[in-house]
Amino acid sequence: MTVVLGIETSCDETSAAVVVDGTDVRSNVVASQVDLHAKYGGVVPEIASRAHIERLDAVIEEAMAVAKVTKDDIDAIAVTNRPGLVGALLIGVTAAKTLSWAWGKPLIAVDHIRAHAYSPAIGLDEPPWPAVGLIVSGGHTSLFFIHAPTSIERLGATTDDAAGEAFDKVATILGLGYPGGPLIEKVARDGNPRAIDFPRTMLSPDSLDFSFSGVKTAVLYHVHGQGRVSGGLEKLSSWQIADIAASFQQVVIDVLVRKTMLAVARTGVRSVVLGGGVAANKALRSALEAACVERRLKFHAAKMAYCTDNAAMIAALGYHQLQAGDVAGLDVDAYASAT
Ligand code: KG4
Ligand code: ZN
Repeated sequence: MTVVLGIETSCDETSAAVVVDGTDVRSNVVASQVDLHAKYGGVVPEIASRAHIERLDAVIEEAMAVAKVTKDDIDAIAVTNRPGLVGALLIGVTAAKTLSWAWGKPLIAVDHIRAHAYSPAIGLDEPPWPAVGLIVSGGHTSLFFIHAPTSIERLGATTDDAAGEAFDKVATILGLGYPGGPLIEKVARDGNPRAIDFPRTMLSPDSLDFSFSGVKTAVLYHVHGQGRVSGGLEKLSSWQIADIAASFQQVVIDVLVRKTMLAVARTGVRSVVLGGGVAANKALRSALEAACVERRLKFHAAKMAYCTDNAAMIAALGYHQLQAGDVAGLDVDAYASAT
């Protein structure tokens, strides 16, 4: 039995978790900072770093208490060291280095996006690999060929806005507030997804890359801009806003599903996994599941608790890196970019 303590501070959630053997989550404590950033309409890096400093000790203590472990039970410490806000990442990385040194436990540096890619496997009896992984978060939208937990190949990525970023920006355009993803999903339930034909950007027909800035701009123009289709936000009724939200959400889902199926055809795998914050969207989960059922593919979406940022996925992937001998030195750094 291998016990890993995971630490996650890459953006606006301070999280710590205790996971056994990469799959059995004993605790997963997440302190969200949404309330601190909401009035600014987005994450303010300096505020995020300060909140991580204030909260991380208590979050780690709580994760260990809930899991009923002491430092002697812990075999390794896994921490997100990329990608993310460097100031925020550094808080977690510094804490993990300190614990690693003080407790004499190995340190493991985990890539946050690869941890999202691994997250659908948490708690499964059978590993879902090899699989095509669609990872949709606030900062990244990627398709991966996941051969094994520590062997993940990128097939495509966003060329501009990430899917979650587009949800957040469209929510701002529609005056719904922050964070936008869950708010768009809620409003879209009352709307007609075929009401407005926003552009579905596929790039070239066989491309596995994504672009969501076009649909975002189309929504902006529809509401305020060229042609003033609606005459401005203040003139829109709640059902018109619902139709815009539903039509936008449908475009994003259609593109994500089509490209994931293209990746399945290209790789020949029979398994699809879905992770990242936008994977919490129920309409996306059911559309991708339906496409998989139609083609008799296995489908696993990350459990809701492991979609948005959490340390369980960091500890879980950290376990596999430990098994593979991928241990970091105390000189390990934090990086804004993904690998
Ligand atoms: O993975 P995540 O927690 O953070 C990053 O690594 O970026 O993803 C956050 C993103 C935000 O853009 C948020 O609006 C989006 O996930 N999101 C959703 C939903 N819940 C969160 N997007 C669509 N529908 C949702 N239900
Ligand atoms: Zn994330």
